[in-house]
Amino acid sequence: MNIFCKKIWYCLFVITLELFNVNSFYAQECTSVYKNSDFPVEQRINDLIQRMTLHEKVMQMNQWTMGKNLNPNNVEDKINEFDPEIGSILYRSINPVYRNEIQRKAIEESRLGIPVIFAFDVIHGYRTVFPIPLAQACSWNTELVEQSCEVAAKEAWLSGVNWTFSPMVDVARDPRWGRVSEGYGEDPYVNARFAVAAVKGYQGHDLSEKYTIAACLKHFVGYSMSEGGRDYNYTDVSSQTLWETFMSPFEAGVSVGVATLMSGFNDITGVPATANHYTLTEVLKNKWGHDGFVISDWGSIKNLIDQGVAQDRKQAALKSFKAGVEMDMVDNVYLENMEELVKEKKISEEDINEAVRRILRVKFHLGLFDQPYVDVIKEKDRYLQKRDVDIATEIAAESMVLLKNTPYGNNDNNILPLDTSLKNIAVIGPMVKDSVNIMGFWEGMGKSEDVKSIYESLDEELGKKHRLYYALGCEFDGNDTTLFQQAREACQKSEAVIICLGEKRNWSGENGSRSSLALPYIQEQLVSEIKKLNKPIIIVLSNGRPLELIRLNNLADAIVEIWQPGTYGANALAGILSGRINPSGKLAITFPLTTGQIPIHYNRRPSAVKNQGNYKDIPEQPLYTFGHGLSYTCYEYDTIKLSSSKIKMNGKLYAELKVTNNGTFDGKETILWFISDPVANISRPIKELKYFEKKEIKAGESVVYRFNIDPIRDLSYVDGYGQKHLESGEYYLQVGNQKVQFELED
Ligand code: NOJ
Repeated sequence: MNIFCKKIWYCLFVITLELFNVNSFYAQECTSVYKNSDFPVEQRINDLIQRMTLHEKVMQMNQWTMGKNLNPNNVEDKINEFDPEIGSILYRSINPVYRNEIQRKAIEESRLGIPVIFAFDVIHGYRTVFPIPLAQACSWNTELVEQSCEVAAKEAWLSGVNWTFSPMVDVARDPRWGRVSEGYGEDPYVNARFAVAAVKGYQGHDLSEKYTIAACLKHFVGYSMSEGGRDYNYTDVSSQTLWETFMSPFEAGVSVGVATLMSGFNDITGVPATANHYTLTEVLKNKWGHDGFVISDWGSIKNLIDQGVAQDRKQAALKSFKAGVEMDMVDNVYLENMEELVKEKKISEEDINEAVRRILRVKFHLGLFDQPYVDVIKEKDRYLQKRDVDIATEIAAESMVLLKNTPYGNNDNNILPLDTSLKNIAVIGPMVKDSVNIMGFWEGMGKSEDVKSIYESLDEELGKKHRLYYALGCEFDGNDTTLFQQAREACQKSEAVIICLGEKRNWSGENGSRSSLALPYIQEQLVSEIKKLNKPIIIVLSNGRPLELIRLNNLADAIVEIWQPGTYGANALAGILSGRINPSGKLAITFPLTTGQIPIHYNRRPSAVKNQGNYKDIPEQPLYTFGHGLSYTCYEYDTIKLSSSKIKMNGKLYAELKVTNNGTFDGKETILWFISDPVANISRPIKELKYFEKKEIKAGESVVYRFNIDPIRDLSYVDGYGQKHLESGEYYLQVGNQKVQFELED
């Protein structure tokens, strides 16, 4: 019998039962359309909702956490402390058996057997820790990012997780805000491209398949504008900036089917993101047609009281629900108030049904009703598999940015890669033997035991040809200079010095704001001391944000920015220093010259008076701008070729650029295509990135890069109401130092 006939027979059977009002257990079981995978999801949802009590519906709209946030001691709470009707659990254990037990309780002990959706912050890997997202963006390799998310999803799924609170696509504006480490840098287009890659990586082609998990775009929206870079602070976001800078990465993620979004802690010029009807309902649900659900951030519903828009928890629940937040993360504000709000007719049960429908839709798409349990396999087969390790190493290598590389002593050659004639090398600094901070904030279930430190990796890579002398030199902070002497001694025995500096992991990430981008003085002092010994200095930096390098830059012959590169990052660094790997990372965020230069993203609007108004005490330019990154080879760019110097509004224009690798190293080069529009009704940024592509170019070979310009997509701009405008006139296409004019005709 085909599925269509089966369904007709089934419906006739159900109608007969209804007609004869058969109310037996048998009827109950057999009419469970929602349990039958032959039926379409929407029909299953409707069937389930009409069986649910108001209380059961409200329970679906709540997420509880197992134990305290990041408190490993609470992880193994007894399962009988969980109400089997709960909608979601923030699951902080790696044990799939335990997770399946909880699920079994939900399925077997709740009246309707609705499965729980288990969530966890899988931000840059689960057990295999990948570089922080900011670093991943510097790889400009969307395929590798997609693969990393796929690996993270698989490891998480095998541990019992169905849903991650990632990717974060808050466009970076102020690097004092520690959460710039969690996003993809300062450009909206870059964030949008990586949003798509991450969502595809986590969710795969079909969410119901094994090893896929639901993604969550966060924090909707404008959170990165926290004033002064102070986390959780209020944000002043004009409607123009909201649309021009912050919305597009979310829109891109929604367009590829992201299952969920998280509302931010911030307010959007007075209306908190968690109580914002405009962004959550008018835009997200009505304009973009998102059919999944929105979860509040940790405490962000009750925070509405502190933010001065709700007088109590009940009003906070009412406001966030009405705005479009369907699930309450850990607050219990919905649980306490929703039923009463319905009884008081402040919220209709139909609206509750719609919210629950969205939550159930994600659960159905995840296949949780049909396959509620995850496979239990041995821990050694779950994590850190060969392919996972290779991807983690590759993306770490491609994320690292060679900021500076100059000749040393009387040599013509740059100091990097290290020459074998440098027999003795000192390796000093607080990052050298670190295996914790190198993983970065939100390290998931990463373990420092899995990490090979920089020292171990260098020893393995360089040990046969060079002799290494280690000294700590100084701690990350404090003012103890007594360790300088050991460092001096190690350097005196050496022909070159590698100094590994950086930030501790919790100096960035959530609640990781810093007033200055400079490293603590003790670290700079260590470099100044070593400089006196007149040896070539290579500085290796591991940090979660751009740093103020104005002083260190002058002391170093080379600087390698490795970010927080994760479990296998040190191995990638060793490859770069030895020359086994040719660096290919480029900055996805600008390094200002000094902290006072912030905000200094590349895509600023033009100033009213050219070349004036700059600070009197420092140069105008940042130290290292968006897109900067050196290589061991030399790429020669041919002139940009345009298919025409004019383009019609509905036409297409093709641009080509031939790039030749003139050096001796094979490499990977990323071409960034910018557009600028010098005259428009709303002033446009100096230039805007519209496309990028990374390709491999072997030594001595050439590769052609192409960019097909689509006027609506690439030349239009959005106004403060989200409307697109396309204006005729002159435009410029820019790559590197080249700028080519063309005209958009009426
Ligand atoms: C608060 C953070 O802002 C958010 O990004 C995270 O996903 C939740 N806590 C859950 O841990």
